[in-house]
Amino acid sequence: MPNDLAAVVLAGGLGTRMKSALPKHLHPLLGRRMVDWVIRAAHDAGVGRVVVVASPDTAALFDGVEVAVQLTPLGTGDAVRSARAALDGVQGDVVVLNGDVPALTPELVHALVEAHRAAGAAGTVLSFELGLLWPGFMKFAGPIVGVPFSLEGFAFFTEAIFLGVYLYGWDRLSRRAHLLAGIVVAVSGAASAVFVLMVNAWMNTPTGVTMAGGTIVAVDPVAGMLSPAAFPQALHMVLAAYASTGLAVAGVHAWMLRRGATRGFHRRALIVALWVGAPAALLQPLSGDISARLVAKTQPVKLAALEGQFATERGAPLRIGGWPDARAATTRYALEIPHGLSLLAYHEWNAEVKGLAAFPRSDWPPLAPVHVSFQIMVALGMAMALVALWAAWVGWRKREIAEQPRLLRALAVVAPFGFIATEMGWLVTEIGRQPWVVQGLLRTSDAVTPMPGLIVPLTVFTLLYLVLGAVVVALIAAMVRDTADEPAGDAGEPLAAGA
Ligand code: HEM
Repeated sequence: MPNDLAAVVLAGGLGTRMKSALPKHLHPLLGRRMVDWVIRAAHDAGVGRVVVVASPDTAALFDGVEVAVQLTPLGTGDAVRSARAALDGVQGDVVVLNGDVPALTPELVHALVEAHRAAGAAGTVLSFELGLLWPGFMKFAGPIVGVPFSLEGFAFFTEAIFLGVYLYGWDRLSRRAHLLAGIVVAVSGAASAVFVLMVNAWMNTPTGVTMAGGTIVAVDPVAGMLSPAAFPQALHMVLAAYASTGLAVAGVHAWMLRRGATRGFHRRALIVALWVGAPAALLQPLSGDISARLVAKTQPVKLAALEGQFATERGAPLRIGGWPDARAATTRYALEIPHGLSLLAYHEWNAEVKGLAAFPRSDWPPLAPVHVSFQIMVALGMAMALVALWAAWVGWRKREIAEQPRLLRALAVVAPFGFIATEMGWLVTEIGRQPWVVQGLLRTSDAVTPMPGLIVPLTVFTLLYLVLGAVVVALIAAMVRDTADEPAGDAGEPLAAGA
């Protein structure tokens, strides 16, 4: 029996999640107990000795494998310690596996051991596997996107922990500690957005990798995180988040004020929300311009698709609206502003803009969705910026925003615009990069899983999120309705945006 690799399968816990007297790992699945699938995966991966950690009650249920008894269920560390005596004499590595992961494959166990040995590490943790849907992408890009993804995980957990402190700490913390918890939530939330955007930016403008024979042979994770698109994309998306939520909240309060709610609460909340949303909405077109100029430089075929530009041209026009017709190689029904695109993309009246015709047809993204999404995003962004400017003007003149019925109506109308523009923006970025998943290095067709039947989880998750979305909207609507029924309180107190 080879002594250089052993496995400990943890099956000593109570495993109560199935809400039955039988521990979870002993539940049958496709003709075997869950834990038996794990034992089999370990054997098939070439593990010489498999030690199952069982409780005193279940030890007798394991035939043909070594069993170590964990006398009291004191957690994972204690369970592994229980197997120590049984592992005496093992010279090499020990893989610790949970007994309730029946989908574990021998290939994954083997790959984990290989990666551990190649790295010469003292210990290796298999934390989560993104390779299920995108095995080709993770195999190719894992070494470089792993660092920002892990940092995103840290930021996310910090946010989750402090959100708990914030929500449950209203009456338990000092005002200062409570405020501090809120600040940590905001900062770590933004940080997790920035880290995940670094990954997306790397997919658009990959840097920090040395390639040989179609695979990455050397990696500089810091250079990968600071790819050319990192700053413009992070800025654009963080502004999008503040503009969308700020103006959506302002829109709800504006709507309530228009319906006759007179409470000071709505007036104050409107101003607070505008302080968040309006500056972001005003800055968004500028940040969009920075993004577009970078796209012109680094992803010219994406720019040509989003602008509906077929011919390579000096003094190219800016197209407003229109429908790209690939067969006729033209964008129909668009309003053209002469020289507009050259001016915006390169800040030069007669700059040359590369058209789609300059690239092989196989490298074109789907044209209509990219062009139309881009037009909608920009139109909504301009509308949001104009309404934000109007509110800023009224506030600057020390007028009461809550007393401007037309402005209140405009704020209510633009309330959903930010969320729609954000969705459109992601369609532009992701469809616009096709057929590449990592621009110029890895095609989407080589990255996606060959697994069949994915329509089932896609449909289930889509329905789940639709239901969750509907519940959130219903809850928020109920909360908003409640505020209308409360007594007038400090209504009528004047409040201007600048106050
Ligand atoms: C007002 C003028 C706007 C312009 C000129 C503009 C420009 C752009 C460009 C060129 C991209 C593609 C970047 C790439 O693929 O590398 C993009 C993406 C995006 N846009 Fe806009 N945009 C504008 C407004 C907005 C607004 C109002 C929102 C949402 C509130 C928004 C949300 C997004 C998002 C979420 C992305 C994808 C992620 C990212 O690149 O950060 N955009 N935008």
